[in-house]
Amino acid sequence: MRQVKNLYAKAKAMLKKGLLQAVMGFAGAECLKVRQLYLSTNQVYLAYHPDSHCDFASHPEFGELLGRFTAHNLSNNGGDIPRLWSLILNIKQVLGEGIEGDFAELGVWRGNTAAVLAYYAQASGRRVFLFDTYEGFNEEDLVGVDANKKPWFGDTSVAMVKDVIGGNDGCCHHVKGCFPGTITEEHQRSTYAAVSLDCDLYEPLKAGLEFFYPRMSKGGVLFLHDYSSLYWDGAKKAIDEFCRKAGEFVILLPDKSGSAFLRKTK
Ligand SMILES: C[S@@+](CC[C@H](N)C(=O)[O-])C[C@H]1O[C@@H](n2cnc3c(N)ncnc32)[C@H](O)[C@@H]1O
Repeated sequence: MRQVKNLYAKAKAMLKKGLLQAVMGFAGAECLKVRQLYLSTNQVYLAYHPDSHCDFASHPEFGELLGRFTAHNLSNNGGDIPRLWSLILNIKQVLGEGIEGDFAELGVWRGNTAAVLAYYAQASGRRVFLFDTYEGFNEEDLVGVDANKKPWFGDTSVAMVKDVIGGNDGCCHHVKGCFPGTITEEHQRSTYAAVSLDCDLYEPLKAGLEFFYPRMSKGGVLFLHDYSSLYWDGAKKAIDEFCRKAGEFVILLPDKSGSAFLRKTK
């Protein structure tokens, strides 16, 4: 029992550095025991990579994207590999289907998901519009269903985001300020093929859905973070209200924060 407790403590300590590092830190029989521990906790579990990656080597960019997805954010994203795969596979699907339009994200923080969008935008000759205050939540949005939320995500900068995105930053437009006040004519004229809405709160998410959805190509994909997390009530409320009005439906993902995805079919 004591041995198991020690192993559990070691696993938890290593998890703080990220799931991949934690798994790599164990060997042989110890590794098997750790796997059982993961399976027995309600917080983390081991998962396979897609066959398309392991058996068919279809995503050689995965290693680079994993590095960018976890940069300055290892404790949160290191164990959220299903979210990274869902972005990679769905963006590649949209590109493979020839869906036209630029990419965008509302809610960038340190650029971990923006870097994934930028990688494929650069490769396919598209632009990425990255909307954020780059200073955290706008206090005026902390009202109504979000009145109990505190200022958050101020610990970033455009320079940090550029660094996380790396060599693919050339196609990115960093739009600094409070959305929707930062929308320009250029953004209004654009059409969009892939849009990530990850701003947590009701007011900006409602505005983001109303702005981007009508400008998305048929077949375009909307990545909606936090829908079923049960933490960000405002995100769920904004998405539910919008879907009822637009006659759309979401598909839920079993990732850490309960992403929902929607592909525009009309
Ligand atoms: C959870 S973080 C985004 C994380 C990022 N998508 C990722 O996965 O790496 C939420 C971001 O939304 C931004 N945000 C929230 N409300 C906003 C608003 N009204 N205008 C611009 N940015 C906003 C915050 O500044 C914060 O950086």
